[in-house]
Amino acid sequence: MANRSPPATFLLFLAAVACGAAAARHNYSDALYKSILFFEGQRSGHLPPSQRISWRRDSALHDGASVGVDLTGGYYDAGDNIKFGFPMAFTTTLLSWSVIDFGHTMTPNHLSDAITAIRWATDYLLKATSIPNTLYVQVGNAFRDHSCWERPEDMDTPRTVYKVDASHPGSDVAGETSAALAAAAIVFRLRDPDYSDRLLQRAVRVFDFADQYRGAYSSSLHNVVCPCYCDFSGYKDELLWGAAWLHKATRRREYREYIKRNEEVLGASDTKHEFGWDNKHAGVNVLISKEVLMGKDDYLRSFKENADDFICSLLPGVSSHPEIQYSPGGLLFKTGGSNMQHVTSLSFLLLAYSNYLSHANSHVPCGASSASPAELRMAAKRQVDYILGDNPMGISYMVGYGNRYPQHIHHRASSLPSLEAHPGRIGCKAGGAYYLSPKPNPNLLIGAVVGGPTNISDIFPDARPIFQQSEPTTYINAPLVGLLAYFSAHPYD
Ligand SMILES: *[C@@H]1O[C@H](CO)[C@@H](O)[C@H](O)[C@H]1NC(C)=O
Ligand SMILES: *[C@@H]1O[C@H](CO)[C@@H](O)[C@H](O)[C@H]1NC(C)=O
Repeated sequence: MANRSPPATFLLFLAAVACGAAAARHNYSDALYKSILFFEGQRSGHLPPSQRISWRRDSALHDGASVGVDLTGGYYDAGDNIKFGFPMAFTTTLLSWSVIDFGHTMTPNHLSDAITAIRWATDYLLKATSIPNTLYVQVGNAFRDHSCWERPEDMDTPRTVYKVDASHPGSDVAGETSAALAAAAIVFRLRDPDYSDRLLQRAVRVFDFADQYRGAYSSSLHNVVCPCYCDFSGYKDELLWGAAWLHKATRRREYREYIKRNEEVLGASDTKHEFGWDNKHAGVNVLISKEVLMGKDDYLRSFKENADDFICSLLPGVSSHPEIQYSPGGLLFKTGGSNMQHVTSLSFLLLAYSNYLSHANSHVPCGASSASPAELRMAAKRQVDYILGDNPMGISYMVGYGNRYPQHIHHRASSLPSLEAHPGRIGCKAGGAYYLSPKPNPNLLIGAVVGGPTNISDIFPDARPIFQQSEPTTYINAPLVGLLAYFSAHPYD
C-alpha cells in the first residue's frame, strides 16, 4: 500500500489545495478562540455564571464525598464522563507550556481565556493532592460509564474514587501532576503570586512522593486505569519530566543535578518517536534544550543531542523512521487511533524547538544535512493547516471552524439533547438511541478537534461509533492552543 501511487486526479487535487492555502490564509485567531472555548464544554462540577458553552450544566457535584474529600471540578477527558488524572495533568502541563512560550502572541482576551482554562484544571489538581503522599487519580468507573450513553448532568454510574499512595505508588501520574503544577506555577508567577506559590510548593511535595515511592500506577491500579490510560512507557519519563519542570520553575540546583544524575537510569534518550500523555521523553529533551541553546546549561548538552535526533525524525523527507509516516495528503501519521493527539503534540515540539533555535541563531543537524527553524515552523504549520481544512476531504477537524466540520462527534453531552431542550432524565440505556442516530449532534462542542483519520488514507467517515476518529480529547487541544497562538500572530510564517 505504501508504494501505491495516487491517481492523477488526486495529485491535481492536492496541487489545488496547496495553491488555495497559499492565497486564502486561515483565521488562526478564530481557531485559537475556539480551541480554548472547547475546555468549557469539558468542565465537571459547578459551572460559573461566565460559562459560555451554555448547553452544559452542573455535574458530578458530589465527587470525592465517598472518601470525605472534595474532588469536584476538573475536566472530563474526552467524550465520556470520567475524570482521569493522568491525561488531565498532561493537558494542564501542555496548556501551561502553550502559554509560557506563546502567551505573548495572544490577544489579552485569548490569553485570559487560556489562563482560566489552566486554573480550572489546577484548582482540581490542588484538591487531588491535598493529602501528603496521596494522589487521587480517577473519579468514576470506566467500565460502568462506558456501558452508558448519558449526559454528565444525568450521570448515575458509580463515582468511585481511586488513589495512589505510599503502598500503592504511581510515579507516572504523580510525576506528571508535579510537572503540571510546576508549569502552571510559572504561568501564574506574575499574575497571581500567592496562587503560584501554592502550586509550586505542591509540585515539590508531589514530586518527592513520586520519586520516593517508585512504581507505575498501572501496576497499583491495573484493572482500573488500564483499559484507557495504562502507562505503557513506564514512569521514568515522568520523573525526568517533573524534575525538568521543577528545574524551570524553581531554578534550584537539586533538580538540575537530579536530571543529570538520572539521565541514563531514567532513559532520557529513549524517545520512541512519540510525545503524549504516555511518553514524555521527547518533551523533556526539547524543554531542557532551551537552556542549552541559551548557553545557560552546557552541563545538560546531551539532552539537546537527543532533541536534535527526535526533531529530525519528524521532518517529512528527512525521516527514515517507520514510526513516523505521512499520509498522501500530508498528515503526520502514527498507528493506533486518535491520531490528532500525535499531530498536535509533535507539531508543538517542532514549533517550540524552532523558536529556541531561532533565538540562539542555530539550526538542527540532521545527519549529513540540517534543518532551519523556518523549516520546522513550516512542518508544524502544515499540520495545523491540515487540521483546519487543507486536506483531501476538504473538512476542518475542528468543530465549529470553517464551513465543513465533523457533525457526529463521539461525545455524550454534545450528542444528547441539552437539559434545556429535554429537561427530563435520559437514563443509561435510553441514550443509546441518540448514540445510534444518523442525525448530527444537537449541541455544538465548539473548538473540539477529533481524532481524525486513523489510517493513512486521509479518509474520515464522521461516524459517532468510531471513537478512534470521532472523539475529541483535552490533550489533542492543549498543544494546539500554543500552535494557534503563534500562527495567529505570524500567519505568513
Ligand atoms: C477571524 O475571526 C474572528 C472571529 O473570531 C473575526 O472577528 C475576524 O473578523 C476574522 N478575521 C478575518 C480576517 O476574517
Ligand atoms: C481506512 O479508513 C477508512 C474509513 O474508516 C476505511 O473505509 C478504509 O477501508 C480504511 N483503509 C484501510 C487500508 O484500512
